[in-house]
Parts: sequence; structure tokens; C-alpha cells
Amino acid sequence: MNQAEAAHSLLLELQRLRSEGIRDVYVEEDSLLSLEKVLQEKFGRPESRKPEGRAPEPSSPRVSDPDRGPEAEKEEVVESSAAVIRAFPENELSEIPDPLEFDLPDGSKEERWGWLREKVESCPTCLSELNPKGKVVFGCGDLDSDLFLCGEAPGAEEEQQGLPFVGPAGELLTKILEAMGLSRDSVYLGNIMNWRPRHGQAYGNRPPTEQEMNFCLPYLKAQIEIISPKVVVALGKTATDGLLGHDPKRRLGDCRGKWSEFEGIPLMVTYHPSYLLHNPSKASKRKVWDDMLLVMEKMEMNVSEKQRGFFG
Ligand code: URA
Repeated sequence: MNQAEAAHSLLLELQRLRSEGIRDVYVEEDSLLSLEKVLQEKFGRPESRKPEGRAPEPSSPRVSDPDRGPEAEKEEVVESSAAVIRAFPENELSEIPDPLEFDLPDGSKEERWGWLREKVESCPTCLSELNPKGKVVFGCGDLDSDLFLCGEAPGAEEEQQGLPFVGPAGELLTKILEAMGLSRDSVYLGNIMNWRPRHGQAYGNRPPTEQEMNFCLPYLKAQIEIISPKVVVALGKTATDGLLGHDPKRRLGDCRGKWSEFEGIPLMVTYHPSYLLHNPSKASKRKVWDDMLLVMEKMEMNVSEKQRGFFG
């Protein structure tokens, strides 16, 4: 096995560990530098690559893509490697306080939502965790929607605009909604996190820590309480862990496509759109689509034969 093959195998192993929920892998600085050198010699500097909207879905299993050749496969692994191996050192994370306890005020949906939004946007912890030009990102959409979609955390575009799902993953999510016959404005979009977790890299995203998630969760739960949707969709592992509780044994591939419950509301787990951006095979798209068909049925929407056949 030559050096490049060994590096490639290491990346696959890291991705496998991640797919099993293992978030921290200690890598000696020297090993990291050697690995980086080998990858750069073979594939060039990652900085020359197009920035991604969100890191690869952290704990989704990789699905090999029959539609793409081996070169595409290799490139995909390298694209995701920076996010996989460069965990932000624990000791560089700030102390996150315990989550706040609060009760929503009485009033109309608009009044309660406005109160909460102001609370989150002025939250000292959220503000202190922001990147230099970043904004706090609160949920948005139709307060009367039957559908609440929950993502992980703002990415680069989201923290710039202060809005959820406005980057590449958001564009794909909008297309999925349109295929369902819905518009972005007709649903509610929220995230586990209200800030983009800081990391030391020029691009990419770091999954939030359990402490960071726990801090933001009451804000998300309060949004779900206000919207009171018919269905909640957890997009990816972080959203699933946030809404169903951390379970190291849970694999996203096993729980997607099945109904769970969040505080009495039917909850569908599916892959995060950024996972589809990195695994754009027909098989992965169909899995997400199958989940969305179930969501449409639960919402008592009409599903046409044409819609049933998408990605079939
Ligand atoms: N990914 C998310 O999980 N949330 C966003 O708002 C954008 C990308």
C-alpha cells in the first residue's frame, strides 16, 4: 500500500467511526501534518477547492454512489476530510453556561414568537459565541405551518444573513420542499443552534458540542411550542440527537424513515440536505424522498403518482 492509499484508507476509517457516532479522534500533530502533506501532494491544497455550505452530515453512513466514477468518489472523500479530521481542540472551546429556564409569555403566536426572537437575538451567550461578522440565527417561516423542519446550526451564509438555510444546503432543501408542493415560506425552518460553532478553519463547519446544543435547545423547543406543527422533521444527526436525546448507539440510517415523537408531535428523521450534497446518488435522494412522502401523508397532503415516482 502506498502513502496515498494509506491516507485514503485512514479517511474511510474516520468516516466509518463518525458514522457510528464517534465524534473525537485524537490525532498527533505530526500524523496530521504527514497526512495533510500526502493529500496535498496528491490532490492539491484544500483552500483551492470550492467552499462548502455545511460540513458533510456528521454521522450519516457513506453511501457509495453507483452513478459516479472512482475519481469522483476519491474527490468526495478529500472534500470531507478537513471536517472529519480537524476537530476543534476541546481546550479552545469556551465554557457554555447551563441552559436558561424561561416561560413563554401569553399572547398571540406573533407576540410570543417576537418575544422569543428578541430574547434569542439578545442572548449574551449566543452573542459571545458569534464569529466576528456573524449574526445570531433564529428560526423563520410561517408561524401557522403544519411542518417544522429542524437543522443543525447556521453555516457561513446563514451567520452572515442571520437567517436559517440560505446557503447551498438551504437551496437543496427548498428544492425538496418544492417537489413536495410546498414553498420555503410556507414551512417553518429552525436549527438546534442559534450560532455557527466557531472553529479554526477557513471554511467548513464544526458539529456543535453537547453543551452547546443543550444551551440552545430551550430556544428551539419554545419555537416548536409556538408553531405547534403537525409534523417535525429532524434533518441529520445533530437535529435528531437534539430532539430525541443523545444516544451513542443510535445510527441515523436505522432510525430514518420511521416515526418517532417529540413532545407528542410526530417526528420524522431524515438525512441532512448537506449529506445529499456530498452523496448525490439516486439511492440517497430516494431515501430522503421516501421520508418526505411519509411526511406528506401524515400532513394529509395529496400525493400524485408522479411525486411517488421521483428518484425511483
Ligand atoms: N445547515 C443547517 O443545519 N442549518 C442551516 O441553517 C443551514 C445549513
